Amino acid sequence: MTSDLSPIDRAKYIAARRSCDFVESGMRVGLGTGSTAAWMVRSLGEMVREEGLDIIGVPTSSRTADLARQVGIPVASLDEVKWLDVTIDGADEFDENLNLIKGGGGALLQEKIVATASDRMVVIADVAKEVRYLGAFPLPVETIPFGWQTTKALLEETLVNMDVLGRETTLRMNDDVPYVTDEGNYIIDLHLKRIANPRQLALVLNQIPGVVENGLFIDICDAVVIGYSDGTVEVRDLNVGTVSEEQIDVLDSDNIFAGEPD
Ligand code: A5P
Repeated sequence: MTSDLSPIDRAKYIAARRSCDFVESGMRVGLGTGSTAAWMVRSLGEMVREEGLDIIGVPTSSRTADLARQVGIPVASLDEVKWLDVTIDGADEFDENLNLIKGGGGALLQEKIVATASDRMVVIADVAKEVRYLGAFPLPVETIPFGWQTTKALLEETLVNMDVLGRETTLRMNDDVPYVTDEGNYIIDLHLKRIANPRQLALVLNQIPGVVENGLFIDICDAVVIGYSDGTVEVRDLNVGTVSEEQIDVLDSDNIFAGEPD
């Protein structure tokens, strides 16, 4: 029931619900990862089951694939589908140009590949994700396990020449072992505090051998749907230049709340 949701979850849910308006029957849809994206997957599942929405979903993680199947969305791999109409995903931060930090949930590699293979990427977020400068959220860098300590040292050396406010790097852990991504890699989080030039940083990081991909999404996102806990939702669309605000009515009888989100 929506009344049981915390204000932040209500805001995420509102954004997720509104983002489903970007999806039409016949579309191939990239399904993001994270708690906000999980609300979107549940909402699309409800539309598939109850309204006959006919879509194919391409998940960006094993977690999302499990959830999509569970809620009734037909799932295919990116290689089967090859190109997508739209991808809807969450973000850890977004700026006024809709550049993003992603990967807090560890799925940045598949998320970036899927979003880049889409006609449109729509980000769904609560308003707390909006920032003036990217970088307060640690920037995830997916790294090959082989020689990761050398890669970490090279990252630190590289950061000396970058316009950032912090330079600490940490290997992401899962209890007392390194966190391992769906692709079998590690994640090194960069605690940069403020990134003056995200475009330059994204290019430079990917030059380091051992780095697979970084969590900066530059010029990939087309629109952001921002949810507020009072039910207001704002849509900013870079392509058509619109900024719209509306109120979403959520019925407490909505049945997508069974079980926990991601
Ligand atoms: C997953 O790897 C991330 O990119 C998520 O999209 C991001 O961390 C946002 O997650 P939440 O919606 O849970 O905040």
